[in-house]
Amino acid sequence: MNLKDHIRHVPDFPKPGILFYDISTLLAHAAAWAEAMRQVKEAVAPLKPDLLVGIESRGFLVAAPLALSLGIGFVMVRKKNKLPGAVVSHSYDLEYGSDTIEIQEGAVAKGQRVVILDDLLATGGTMTAAVDLCRKVGAEVVGTNYLIELSFLNGRQRLADKGVGVHSLMVYDS
Ligand code: PRP
Ligand code: MG
Repeated sequence: MNLKDHIRHVPDFPKPGILFYDISTLLAHAAAWAEAMRQVKEAVAPLKPDLLVGIESRGFLVAAPLALSLGIGFVMVRKKNKLPGAVVSHSYDLEYGSDTIEIQEGAVAKGQRVVILDDLLATGGTMTAAVDLCRKVGAEVVGTNYLIELSFLNGRQRLADKGVGVHSLMVYDS
């Protein structure tokens, strides 16, 4: 099975000139989704994480079912002001302006091994921020995983500069 056959390409979304790689079609196809999750599990299990971290919102789609399948916990990294109670925040620069992500205090114990998952790696801005946030709360980030990697945006290098590994199922070079 070629998983790429199940990714829909939507031109000019969310802005003119951007080609959007849509995972909705993969999620909606039971056999393809099962195969994708099987492959993600194969890549993540050897890293022996204590728990998985998913990045809002599409990262949840991958991290939560995988955590269940591995028999470990799942923790959310969310956009600002979404998580109740005490949180730890991390702000990071965007092309224009900045953004903030949060994790609940105590969600990760110091020294725990975590793998962070997202649906897609583009510039790596979102994931490097999530790595910084996880490290801030004392996690050991043992890897990152994606369904899709847009290799021409060099996110992999950005994560390598942080000393973090990247594994993706489908790579697009344009
Ligand atoms: C998309 C995607 C990744 C991120 C990748 O999320 O799901 O999280 O962008 O881009 P980057 O590598 O350049 O940071 P988006 O912000 O669109 O939000 P969503 O997951 O809630 O749809
Ligand atoms: Mg996202």
